[in-house]
Amino acid sequence: MSLLDDINHINNQAKERISNADSLDSLNEAKVKYLGRKGELTAVLKELKNLSVDEKKSVGAQANRCRQELEELIATAAGKFSTSKTDSSFDYTLPGTSSQIGVVHIINQVIDEIVNIFHGMGFEIARGPDIETDYYNFEALNFPPDHPARDMQDTMFVEGGRILRTHTTPVQVRKLEEQNPPIKIIVPGRTYRNEAISTRAHIAFHQVDGFLVDEGVSMADMKGVLVAFCKSFFGPDLKLKFRPSFFPFTEPSAEVDVSCFLCKGKGCQLCKYSGWLEILGCGMIDPNVLIKTGHDPEKYTGYAFGMGVERIAMLKYKINDIRHFFNNDIRFLRQFK
Ligand code: DAH
Repeated sequence: MSLLDDINHINNQAKERISNADSLDSLNEAKVKYLGRKGELTAVLKELKNLSVDEKKSVGAQANRCRQELEELIATAAGKFSTSKTDSSFDYTLPGTSSQIGVVHIINQVIDEIVNIFHGMGFEIARGPDIETDYYNFEALNFPPDHPARDMQDTMFVEGGRILRTHTTPVQVRKLEEQNPPIKIIVPGRTYRNEAISTRAHIAFHQVDGFLVDEGVSMADMKGVLVAFCKSFFGPDLKLKFRPSFFPFTEPSAEVDVSCFLCKGKGCQLCKYSGWLEILGCGMIDPNVLIKTGHDPEKYTGYAFGMGVERIAMLKYKINDIRHFFNNDIRFLRQFK
């Protein structure tokens, strides 16, 4: 057999082995076997010295082509097994681009904070429908038939004579119908009114209502809970003022003012130089509401309260326009991380 035949034979064998290689290790073995210092092709080259000048030229050239071809095949095959994909055009030392993480909307943050404080005092969380009937929104809450809130000017009506609830108080009626005292519930939710949109008013906003019904509940119990809430929400060294007021569904009724937490009651722009901020409405549940929901007002009494979330959020975070809450300008929302 001539050396040229040997080279062809090695070439065929080596190609087969390279194409069957299933790992970097087996490729390496093939490389050593054929191209290594003691490899088969190297051995052929060592024989060249015994040939004539002409033969040396042609056999040497053939051996070099074979070596080159096998080296290229091995390099390509090795690429398949390589796990590190290096892309020389990529600069790994550059800082990464950070992705933006969203924030809970400030209104939801405030709702969560209010609800959590009451939850900590044993109130259970309840919700009701946004679309209400006149009965739950007004009638069962002791609104007289000619009350101005029942007017189309103030309330938004939907098809079928139903309305968008103007407050979260109707959930009190629904829960009082469902359960027997003791009942202790906090109700967050969306509310709607047919208002001209301005810095202070919007057609859709949020409220939190709360109420407790049991035997022997008094206004002192209500004061205790509301003082605890206000101090927890606005700050511990706060003063509260219970001012007589009126709501159809409570008797007696009151509104709660807190001493301005910004100027500590001295008078500033936030409190309009009065030293006080109006925070919520409250009162003892009117006996008519208890009767309408099937409870004996001689046996049970209860208190209730309600507050506007946007108003409280505006005071706490010194926001001067209610529309910021609804515009969803990311620069505004991101401030409340
Ligand atoms: N529903 C009243 C409003 O929208 C707020 C309110 C006042 C709720 C007194 C109550 C309450 O539960 O007892 O203005």
